[in-house]
Amino acid sequence: LAPSLMANYCTELHDDQANKVDKYLHSLLLSDETLMELSIRFRREMDKGLCRDTNPTAAVKMLPTFVRSTPDGTEQGEFLTLDLGGSNFRVLLVKVVGNGKQKVEIENQIYAIPEHLMRGCGAKLFDHIADCLSDFLEKMGIKDKKLPLGFTFSFPCQQTKLDESVLMSWTKGFKSSGVEGKDVVNLLRKSIKKRGDFDIDIVAVINDTVGTMMTCGYDDQHCEIGLIVGTGTNACYMEQMRNLEVLDGDEGRMCVNTEWGAFGDDGALEDLRTDIDREIDAGSLNTGKQLFEKMISGMYMGEMVRLILVRMTKEQLLFQGKTTAELLTTGSFNSKYIYAIDSDKDDEGLTSAEKVLRGLSLDPSVEDCIATQRVCQIVSTRAAHLCAATLVAVLRQIRDNKAAEKLRTTIGVDGSVYKNHPEFSRRLHKMVRRLVPDCDVRFLQSQDGSGKGAAMVTAVAYRLAAQHAE
Ligand code: GLC
Repeated sequence: LAPSLMANYCTELHDDQANKVDKYLHSLLLSDETLMELSIRFRREMDKGLCRDTNPTAAVKMLPTFVRSTPDGTEQGEFLTLDLGGSNFRVLLVKVVGNGKQKVEIENQIYAIPEHLMRGCGAKLFDHIADCLSDFLEKMGIKDKKLPLGFTFSFPCQQTKLDESVLMSWTKGFKSSGVEGKDVVNLLRKSIKKRGDFDIDIVAVINDTVGTMMTCGYDDQHCEIGLIVGTGTNACYMEQMRNLEVLDGDEGRMCVNTEWGAFGDDGALEDLRTDIDREIDAGSLNTGKQLFEKMISGMYMGEMVRLILVRMTKEQLLFQGKTTAELLTTGSFNSKYIYAIDSDKDDEGLTSAEKVLRGLSLDPSVEDCIATQRVCQIVSTRAAHLCAATLVAVLRQIRDNKAAEKLRTTIGVDGSVYKNHPEFSRRLHKMVRRLVPDCDVRFLQSQDGSGKGAAMVTAVAYRLAAQHAE
């Protein structure tokens, strides 16, 4: 074929395949109206979590974090940070040099957490964390210093103060026994005491969303929302104390951890959940929980694509109806594959699709590659749009709190999906701006929110404690 005819042929082929997949996955395509309605629905869920009477039965917990202010730039000192619950477990040493314009130096080390500890005995998990901490202090040559520590523990926790945090339920890939219902600060202190070779001062436990908001708040005073789209998804924001009915006091603001991943756990999303969503949930560690998170985050996105490909193959729509053992293996389609395939630079994406599919021992035609790319696109676009809907609810809440006509605000963002998927952020931003055209929203990618953020919270707590002592 002549090049121009060839190009036409390719576009036609592409559109044909895309249409076929769109038809098959129509229930994953959400209109602006549906998203707007979802946003309103989530706003009601937020209210339910904030109000004293309805909080006990609310799916979206709206947890107080006891973080009341963002850094002012005068904080300084040396802080340790633990980061548990993201892609990696890490120990960090953060030096904050504060004289107006803050400078931060970080040393950090990643430690593996073996699967038997993630899903085994909780006491052993905390012993392991203490072991890693000891190893790190040794390496840094600071074992004899009693440094303040901030613990980024990215799970839903009931806090009564900054340094007491009771795990409500494990989420994502964790399920160790004997931790739910317990104060994780206490568990960590016990494990450290048992070793007896070092001492530290645990000052704060924070969620990764809070760390993200805090680090961005440093560079941008307008930052009052923290968003994570990574292994899990969640957001926090600065709420008026008067609206946070579960706590006494009406003055000022406090950061609230929404735990929006649990949206729908009471049935509120049943009209939007599909057979695929139900299949993902059934195969997960926490069936019936974190239903919104399972429609979005990196831990489930690849598996969702895999389940769709399996179904389409069984219905003779792909790979000439032939599955392979690899394609049928749970977890064989990593979310990272989606980042490579769902690239708007079409050819690159299609080449990646072919490579990934061959890696699963399939023998894909061009049509199969185009269809797979479309599946990846639909799954990750839905994820971005669902996030946009809940984020817009948070934006409207803040705008109403300020009784502002036009809100100008900044959202600090982190997480592997947001950072590594080539189109996710653009789609999220675009949908947010479409759903709230009257808000002036800036998205700021956080630089190591979970690591640096905990040090920031600890540093602020130290500064305030020093001021009170004066
Ligand atoms: C899960 C956790 C939540 C965390 C989020 C992102 O949803 O429950 O606490 O913020 O993952 O890591």
